[in-house]
Amino acid sequence: MPINLTWLGHGGWIIKTDEHVVLLDPFLSESPTAPMKPGDLDAHFILVSHGHFDHIHDVPSIANRTGATVIAIFEIAQWLANNHGVKETIGMNIGGGTTTPFGHVKMTPALHSSQLPDGSYGGEPAGFLLKIGGKKLYFACDTGLFSDMQYLGACGLDLAVVPIGDLFTMGPIDAVEATKLLKPKKVAPAHYNTWPPIEQDAAAWAQSIREQTNAEPVVIEPGQGFDV
Ligand code: NI
Ligand code: MN
Repeated sequence: MPINLTWLGHGGWIIKTDEHVVLLDPFLSESPTAPMKPGDLDAHFILVSHGHFDHIHDVPSIANRTGATVIAIFEIAQWLANNHGVKETIGMNIGGGTTTPFGHVKMTPALHSSQLPDGSYGGEPAGFLLKIGGKKLYFACDTGLFSDMQYLGACGLDLAVVPIGDLFTMGPIDAVEATKLLKPKKVAPAHYNTWPPIEQDAAAWAQSIREQTNAEPVVIEPGQGFDV
């Protein structure tokens, strides 16, 4: 059964299975490239990679409207419950996994920072390794390149999503190196072209992926999707 992914622009994704809608870092109300409004989204689960504004800003409103369960590092799960009245949360930590109704979620390391918008400590930044119906998807989220990506890829990834925007995360050259370590079947770029400081030529990046790796690059516009 295919899993359908839709890019929400920036670091945001809709992951649709047969029965569930999972959002990852939905950032819409303040994003110039968002293809829809937060109020347009359905969700059963919301994955939050870290505490920065451009990942968590819309999470309380979407979670409270939809009743979605938010999955995040322990500190962020607590902050959402205590400060924003989010009712259903699963707090976890790096290296840990949890089995949910839509699949298995493992929290992976990320080289980044993670202060929450009000200055609260947001724990460590994270990525996610998802196992959904036999498919393995890795979302690096906001991170620099790190060599342990080779271990994350050792399970045989169907898809890796890597940032290419540079400045706040790895840029296109390191994202090619990350793809060499991760060895996914498909690789999609994220966290670019939202604002001028992170503008990138995704077509040129895709060409480098084709030349230097065995992965199939999947470059789409915000609001578009593809199956895994
Ligand atoms: Ni960030
Ligand atoms: Mn970010």
